[in-house]
Amino acid sequence: MSKVKIGIIGGSGFYKLDALKDPVEKSVTTPFGEPSDALVSGKIEGVDCVVLARHNRKHGIMPTNINYRANIWALKEEGCTHVIVSTACGSLQEAIAPGELVILDQFIDRTTKRAQTFYDGTCGQLPGICHLPVAEPFCSLTRDCLKKAAEASNIPVHPSGTCVTIEGPRFSSKAESFLFKSWGGHVINMTTVPECILAKEAGLCYAAIAMATDYDCWHPHNENVSVELALTTFRENVGKVTQVLCAAVPIIAKLDWTVTIRELKDAVQQNVMI
Ligand code: ADE
Repeated sequence: MSKVKIGIIGGSGFYKLDALKDPVEKSVTTPFGEPSDALVSGKIEGVDCVVLARHNRKHGIMPTNINYRANIWALKEEGCTHVIVSTACGSLQEAIAPGELVILDQFIDRTTKRAQTFYDGTCGQLPGICHLPVAEPFCSLTRDCLKKAAEASNIPVHPSGTCVTIEGPRFSSKAESFLFKSWGGHVINMTTVPECILAKEAGLCYAAIAMATDYDCWHPHNENVSVELALTTFRENVGKVTQVLCAAVPIIAKLDWTVTIRELKDAVQQNVMI
């Protein structure tokens, strides 16, 4: 059974993980440029982990300008087999109340300005064009580990949900919010695409835990989304996210990932046209 190493990407409001023991910081660069921040390596319950702040620990990088390729490349290069992430989202459904958690299983891509592939002809290590199938964008086994971690921690989660990822940095208009809701979106954010796509292309087992921080702007009886509302709700509930992510680490480490990782790698190789 090969060893796992787990990358943990923290989103808005999540900049530090006290459970990470013996943390060591390392600044790295990649063929695609600099990641958002230094990688912080350490152990959670004896399992190797690498933590990265998606927006930088000073929250200096807006969603469009995050170097998603460098972030994923850096974690891969550091030896990660998995990436589990947190993301603050608006809720598009009454049944997903602010403060609640959703384990994402699908996305609708409304981004317009982001590189979505490593195979763009600029990196000599990756020749060809990759037409990656993303019917299932997230790793279902890793999602199961997040669900088990939540259950073991007595933290209720919505076990699946479609995330609409918008370009931002602005929030949506009411017309957009109602449209995304009518499309079947459960939550809305600004970062899941292209992060999950690039993780898949890099052969990493990727899963995301979303926290609803607001009802976006469609809800007739609730305050419309604002940065203050989103951050306040996130701060009040961030303990649940860190608990689920940390509890998932030993659950992931107990499993044999040989077949899953081989399948991910094969899916990429079979879809690269040289
Ligand atoms: N992040 C948190 N709330 C959001 C919303 N309503 N829209 C987009 N991104 C968000």
